[in-house]
Amino acid sequence: MAALFITFEGIEGTGKSTQITRLEAWLRSRGRSVRVTREPGGSRIGAELRRMLLSLENNDICPRAELFLYLADRAQHVEQVVRPALAAGEIVLCDRFADSTVAYQSAGRGLEEETLDALNAQAVNGQWPDLTILLDLAPEVGLTRALSRNRAEGKTVAEGRFEAESLAFHARVRQGYLRLAERFPRRIRLVDASGSIEEIAEAVRDIVEARLDAG
Ligand code: TMP
Repeated sequence: MAALFITFEGIEGTGKSTQITRLEAWLRSRGRSVRVTREPGGSRIGAELRRMLLSLENNDICPRAELFLYLADRAQHVEQVVRPALAAGEIVLCDRFADSTVAYQSAGRGLEEETLDALNAQAVNGQWPDLTILLDLAPEVGLTRALSRNRAEGKTVAEGRFEAESLAFHARVRQGYLRLAERFPRRIRLVDASGSIEEIAEAVRDIVEARLDAG
């Protein structure tokens, strides 16, 4: 069966990991072999980069240094995890990928989008997603959800750097994502993430099923 590379994108609190878990179970129930991964942190080296990137201790990181760490994580992840899994015929479900860099580092931090496009191209080295699910939600709702999840998981200090950003930052990131969806209408599919977990899961399944049927 054909391999497929599916990425999930969206601001904090849109339910990406919940939806990935749901989709994984559905795909497995249909006999597909699935590899779930994420950025940053999908490889061993990436896990070290993730800790550096998300720690509140590193609030003094400058936008360009932050950018290069995400790109390093991506380059390693593509070569060590994504490409081998696809070569083995697996469906790869990845929590965040190159679109996150454009949304966060360009729309959010103000780095130039064209430069990021070129650097992303280097990092992905030809391995663009076949399909991207963009979970769209108002940042007021997403941030409230993300902060209460982090509190429940006791994650406030270790991984809170982006949740600590202002509402205005997340509103810019969301707009960045919506612009990407307009730029890449065939690859990026927008899903309203304000509904119930089940409603969103159904919408995601419909999109993936249509893609699998199309071959
Ligand atoms: P998450 O795994 O909890 O979503 O956290 C990852 C954070 O990293 C999230 O706030 C978005 C941010 N990020 C970027 O700023 N640029 C990137 O390229 C990626 C992959 C993530």
